[in-house]
Amino acid sequence: MAKKLNVGILFGGKSAEHEVSLQSAKNVYDAIDRDKYNPILIGIDKSGRWLLNEGSHFLLNAEDPKNIRLNQSGSAVALVPQSGGAISNLTTLKDSGAVDVVFPILHGPFGEDGTVQGLLKLADIPFVGAGVLGSAAGMDKDVMKRLLRDAGIPIGKFIALKSHEKVPPFAEAVKVLGAPIFIKPANMGSSVGVYKVKDEAEYRAAVEAAFQYDTKIILEEFIPGRELECAILGNEEPAASVPGEVISTHEFYSYDAKYLDEHGAVLEIPARIPDDIKKQIQALALKTFRALSCEGLSRVDFFLKEENAGAGGSGGNSNSITNSRIIVNEINTMPGFTRISMYPKLWEASGVSYTELISSLIELAVKRFEKERKLKTSVV
Ligand SMILES: Nc1ncnc2c1ncn2[C@@H]1O[C@H](COP(=O)(O)OP(=O)(O)O)[C@@H](O)[C@H]1O
Ligand SMILES: [Mg+2]
Repeated sequence: MAKKLNVGILFGGKSAEHEVSLQSAKNVYDAIDRDKYNPILIGIDKSGRWLLNEGSHFLLNAEDPKNIRLNQSGSAVALVPQSGGAISNLTTLKDSGAVDVVFPILHGPFGEDGTVQGLLKLADIPFVGAGVLGSAAGMDKDVMKRLLRDAGIPIGKFIALKSHEKVPPFAEAVKVLGAPIFIKPANMGSSVGVYKVKDEAEYRAAVEAAFQYDTKIILEEFIPGRELECAILGNEEPAASVPGEVISTHEFYSYDAKYLDEHGAVLEIPARIPDDIKKQIQALALKTFRALSCEGLSRVDFFLKEENAGAGGSGGNSNSITNSRIIVNEINTMPGFTRISMYPKLWEASGVSYTELISSLIELAVKRFEKERKLKTSVV
């Protein structure tokens, strides 16, 4: 039998999605196939410290999603470049075991944006999910949209703004985008810093608030319609799941609707949509995954415009890209991964169990690593 792989589950993190990540780690730890894998828990606390945790008590209030916490009693560790996956104990400076592959279940900045992926590349360890480029390109909503536009994928109209640039008056932005306008930090997630504004005062306040999370923000045309999501799994030959729908009871799928209000949203899986729309969504999700150089897994989120909705906005470039009924909103290269999150649920509805999904992702990580390790690193 093949050697059991030590799988480092890297979770928590310096991010608004820290608690979601704790839940995901618990679910993965409980469901991972123990015949093939030996899970090793490495929790990242909110200040960014890496702690090696014991499976039996790595979480406090594990059964209570509102009060779940990382147990801080683990020993501080680090992964060092080219150490063969050795986990170095920062107190004793001795090795505390080693990992063969890492599953970074981290969301948002410092986890999903290429930073951790860069560190894992330097450590020379296979890891689950997109590499540095796919993670970074998928995280930055401005760069993501420009790459999608270049690939001819339908997206909404948008304007990117850096913190040193002059903020256009609301009326100017409305000329391009119509009203209301969505305002978001370029690099964030979980709807943190996302606002829907309809007048100059709200617009000014939202721009200022969004700039607290990033030095770049985007202004977007409002797309009225349903929110559909499609899961992708694979490297060179990725597959698309059945699409699902998020039905939010709030004005939009806000942070409160996602995490604070237990009745904030309902996931409808599979989504009730005509077959032709389903096929178009799957094809666009695959195209998006490829256009952004993603690998392993991603969830691609869409808007399905109301049947007779116009392109929105009175100006800008109206063309086939902005007039499509199906619009790509964003990609998530490390989507929520609890047992009841959309990504695993979509695969379950497509015939892949949670445990099989975890195994597939680890196998994909190892395959990519084996392929990349054959590349020449020297000309001599
Ligand atoms: N242009 C838009 N038109 C309509 N609703 C939007 C738009 N942009 C965002 N939203 C709403 O805000 C939510 C969060 O925005 P999103 O771009 O997905 O950011 P995040 O990366 O934080 O999830 C979406 O799920 C949707 O409900
Ligand atoms: Mg989103």
